[in-house]
Amino acid sequence: MQQLAPVTLASLQERIEPQLEAAYDELCRIVVTDFPLVTDVNSHLLRLKGKMFRPTLLLLSAEAVGGGSKREETLAATVELIHLATLVHDDSVDHSVLRRGQPTVNSAFSHQVAVIMGDYLYSRAILALVSLDDPRPLQVMAMVTNEMTIGEMRELDAFDRLSYDQESYDALIRSKTASLMSGACEVGALAGDGEHREYLKRYGMLLGMAFQVTDDVIDYTESESVTGKPSGLDLREHKVTLPLIAALPNMSASERALVNGLMADPEPSEDVIAAVVDVVSENGGIGAARDRAAGLARDAARELEHVPDGVAKEGLRDCLTYAIERHS
Ligand code: IPE
Ligand code: IPE
Ligand code: MG
Ligand code: MG
Repeated sequence: MQQLAPVTLASLQERIEPQLEAAYDELCRIVVTDFPLVTDVNSHLLRLKGKMFRPTLLLLSAEAVGGGSKREETLAATVELIHLATLVHDDSVDHSVLRRGQPTVNSAFSHQVAVIMGDYLYSRAILALVSLDDPRPLQVMAMVTNEMTIGEMRELDAFDRLSYDQESYDALIRSKTASLMSGACEVGALAGDGEHREYLKRYGMLLGMAFQVTDDVIDYTESESVTGKPSGLDLREHKVTLPLIAALPNMSASERALVNGLMADPEPSEDVIAAVVDVVSENGGIGAARDRAAGLARDAARELEHVPDGVAKEGLRDCLTYAIERHS
């Protein structure tokens, strides 16, 4: 297997920057309202852009199958908007205080506002999809957002449970994260004649899993200043993710007792969190999760073999490298 070359988000998006800008402008237009509190939350949320990774996948997939028009920009706007809606709800569910380096809606406003705003943003995305007068993207997006709700429910099941296994974890990351990335690629592929739709859908699913595994590794390894999200939050919130799942079978009785102690404490101290991070790392959890992400990226690359060669397909290949390396 050839070594994937390092790639930055900026280099990945350079060529499609005008379409990404247009998609973001469209997103800003889609959410406009005359109701003051919703306008306030909109301005708060739109102050900082995310990575726009899902629109990137959608636009590259469309281009790879020979499409790419104004319609894809609207689709790219809606996929980012659905993502934003799920982040607003996810932060409320996770009691998270920081997102994209600024206070979350639940912390800057309230949990009530977060619940309502998530629904507001999602329903605006649906209205924009309906206006396209094509049931196919609407079907895909409705299906994947429904799958994401199951993913968020599955995540509740991953709290506290040291018996949480890799199979359950896979089902969780497929539904909460990979489904939307897969949907973005599938909707992009609709720009072609349908021949590549299934390949790109599967590529997106495997890529999305690799992305989430890497995100779970980053939660263990990177500081808040790098991610714009609190670090060690998963352990603080008692969330069992792949690094811990992979390390547990290798742990000694005393190391296991340390992890059990963290899970039994509703508010574990920074010292205990740091000690568990070390134990997970020493028992190979971080390495195993990184290997898994790389394996998923290789599987995704195989799906791309069925997609026409060209600069957009190279971009999709670079997305895999980005998903597992995350060079900003
Ligand atoms: C965050 O997604 C949620 C996960 C699936 C881990 P991103 O990392 O793409 O977040 P933004 O949009 O760039 O902020
Ligand atoms: C990802 O879940 C969020 C969604 C897919 C909705 P997490 O809870 O793991 O993501 P972060 O860490 O808050 O970004
Ligand atoms: Mg979260
Ligand atoms: Mg969550």
